[in-house]
Amino acid sequence: MKDYGAPHSNEVARFLEEFYRKYSDGFINVPTWEEIKDEPARYYVLYDDSKTTLEEAVIGVGAVRIANGYIKRVVIRKDMRGRGLGKLLLTHLISVAANRNDHVTLHVRKNNTVMRHIVEKLGFQIKEEDENSYLYELRVMG
Ligand SMILES: CC(C)(COP(=O)(O)OP(=O)(O)OC[C@H]1O[C@@H](n2cnc3c(N)ncnc32)[C@H](O)[C@@H]1OP(=O)(O)O)[C@@H](O)C(=O)NCCC(=O)NCCS
Repeated sequence: MKDYGAPHSNEVARFLEEFYRKYSDGFINVPTWEEIKDEPARYYVLYDDSKTTLEEAVIGVGAVRIANGYIKRVVIRKDMRGRGLGKLLLTHLISVAANRNDHVTLHVRKNNTVMRHIVEKLGFQIKEEDENSYLYELRVMG
């Protein structure tokens, strides 16, 4: 797992925008690289370091807003889905967020059955909802 920290270089931010553009499947609002660059969130990348190009090496991406334990933009490359990697990445993001917070939250679209299955299995509960999405919360030790 690679921690891209913050602030992000233009190169990293552009790569992340492109990754989201390709693999979000309409389940997240794709951020522009400028938004990624300036936002107070840390990006984590699940990668295979036996691969030589960034495109092949990066398997998944997700972000945590450390200040309030909010997780967002968890995406796994299409050809690597269904192998437990989304759950692995999310579990890592939860442990990062839980370092500084006694609860962890994330939004999931109501029609995103795969992500809802994952977060509910990990123990998240619905805290709020709007027309299109649920805000899930997990209480942790902090
Ligand atoms: C959501 C996403 C990150 C899941 O990643 P993944 O690596 O495929 O998920 P995993 O392999 O870790 O799956 C974990 C669980 O979901 C289940 N699952 C995975 N794909 C599934 C599918 N297509 N249909 C039903 N269940 C599925 C697995 O069976 C597993 O459940 P289990 O632990 O009960 O066996 C990935 O599908 C993705 O990037 N989707 C597009 C972007 C997105 O929706 N992001 C979330 C925004 S909130």
